[in-house]
Amino acid sequence: MPRYEDTDKDKVRDAVDLVDLISTRTELRRSGPGEYKGLCPFHDERTPSFHVTPDKGMYYCFGCGAGGDAFRFVQETEGLDFVGALESLAQRYGIELTVADEDPAAAERRRARERLMELLDRAASFYERFLWESAEAEPARAYLRDRGFTEETLRTFRVGYAPSAWDKLFMASRRQGYGARELFDAGLGLRSKGEGRLYDRFRRRITFPLCDQRGRVLGFGARALGKDQQPKYLNSPDGDIFHKGDIVYGSHLARSAATKADEVIATEGYMDVLALHQAGIENAVCIMGTSLTERQVGELAKLGKTVLLALDADSAGQEAMMKASRVAAKSKLNLRVVPMPDGLDPADVVQQEGADAAREMVGRSVPFVRFQVERELDRADLSHAEGKDAAIAALRPVFATLPPSALRQELLAHVAGQVGLDEALVSSWLPVAGERAAAPAPPRGGGPGGGGQNGGRRNGGGGGFGGGGGGGFRDDERFGSSSAVLTPRVSPLAQAEGDFLAQCIATPDVAAEVLAGLDLDSFSSDAMRRVLVHVRDHLRAPQDGLPEDDAMLSRSVAKLVTKAADLAPSRAALQGQLANIEVLRLTGQIAEALASGTGGVAALRQRRDQLATRRDALIAQAIDEQASAS
Ligand code: CTP
Ligand code: MN
Repeated sequence: MPRYEDTDKDKVRDAVDLVDLISTRTELRRSGPGEYKGLCPFHDERTPSFHVTPDKGMYYCFGCGAGGDAFRFVQETEGLDFVGALESLAQRYGIELTVADEDPAAAERRRARERLMELLDRAASFYERFLWESAEAEPARAYLRDRGFTEETLRTFRVGYAPSAWDKLFMASRRQGYGARELFDAGLGLRSKGEGRLYDRFRRRITFPLCDQRGRVLGFGARALGKDQQPKYLNSPDGDIFHKGDIVYGSHLARSAATKADEVIATEGYMDVLALHQAGIENAVCIMGTSLTERQVGELAKLGKTVLLALDADSAGQEAMMKASRVAAKSKLNLRVVPMPDGLDPADVVQQEGADAAREMVGRSVPFVRFQVERELDRADLSHAEGKDAAIAALRPVFATLPPSALRQELLAHVAGQVGLDEALVSSWLPVAGERAAAPAPPRGGGPGGGGQNGGRRNGGGGGFGGGGGGGFRDDERFGSSSAVLTPRVSPLAQAEGDFLAQCIATPDVAAEVLAGLDLDSFSSDAMRRVLVHVRDHLRAPQDGLPEDDAMLSRSVAKLVTKAADLAPSRAALQGQLANIEVLRLTGQIAEALASGTGGVAALRQRRDQLATRRDALIAQAIDEQASAS
């Protein structure tokens, strides 16, 4: 990853039109001078709580707390790191980036890589054009038509056709100035055994460009047309640029829908992705077969906290699901399984039963733990006692991940019914997650999320599969409660500190004096102290100087900047806010003194009441001033 000159960041930021950038994800309306509002692209909501303040180059959502600058926005909507966001924005707004202190060898490697990427992109275009324009591709077009794909879908995914001749792409890229070696390095050419002559790797196949999160082509998957062709899918070889295990197919096209739903559908094949997108289910990607890698699980996690596995019901698909669960157990992923009809994949369902049926199928997803229970019961021979015992034994580790909950109870009843034994008896044979914890807390949010009682695991029920929908928090979301649930809760004191800092940003001249004299330690938490220092040091342009890797600070500053945009400058308000902080702090001290019986309560109360009076007078003055100003 190259390092760019520091000034590049400013150049790019100055070039970005934030309203234009964000408008590609959500519709914005002017809501005041220098302020825009819209539905939040990061969570589902019906009334807009997402604000954009273009003068300061920041956005903030009062519903879910997402916030930051243009770089943060691109990082979060496109799943990129900071440098990726910088490159992406530079490209979009036509800014040339300068690589800082690069040694000549590294510069050479980077240029070579850029050429290969360019070659891959041209190859994708070449195949695309061939699909739509050549006579030879008519069978491919007919095949895709028969499978129900529209031209729009195929063009969105840049599906193409590799001609049958041995050297069509080779000749075309030659003409564009690429060498044989480059064709080979890009994974597009093969060398003949004898004289080592180069020829096209992909021939007489339908091509699917395999892209990174930004939609840059890294390689191809290519489907055979004839029954005589083996293998059915031929992929680019792993090399400098393409690593099959690193990518999930379609992530750049699924990101927007997946981020919003915080949910991604993982299918097996390219065709499934195309079919689901065409059916309006745009948060679908595929893992390109069943040998799921840990890196792919990481890519899925970037798209959404809930992963719906829509893999074949066959044993390979089931194995992939078990593997996914093992990897997911290490992250905070909430895993669910989409029940697939026997012998059909999602593309078949869309084609045979239609888009609505596909949507319903996805809607019937179950917590991973339920899938596990079904799987063990299916495998067991329940016609005799030993078989039942074996099934119970196999279910022990599954139940050991389930804390007391409605879901556990339901599964227990199901198992008891299947083995034909009393529920209480079966229950006594199965372990309970967190059983030895002092006092099992009642389950929260209707699911087995009851975090904390799960033997110290962070991910709640289902041993990391987030049994009933991933812990109380996410359950609430699922049941469609208002966005207030999502709002990060802050203490009244932290809230007051935030209000004060927002007023500081709105009143920089006065704030400069006040903040200079303010005792850092007087702020309530480390987090708020960091925000305070940043605001103090960047009073007139708080959007500047934010560290690239501190999402928390960016979010907090975005929130303050957004609030400040609605505030009039006022010395009285600023001092009133400061007094308010002091009042709240004293209130806390009084409570502590009362609880510990250390005394001095009367003096604290007197001081608090004095300050409260002063605060109220200042706020009243601020309101008067504002009324007479307008
Ligand atoms: N795959 C692969 N190499 C193979 C076979 C399969 O990379 N030799 C990957 C491809 O990404 C493919 C996925 O595994 O899309 C699933 O394979 P399969 O179910 O056989 O194909 P489908 O995608 O269902 O394609 P189709 O519907 O056209 O048969
Ligand atoms: Mn298929």
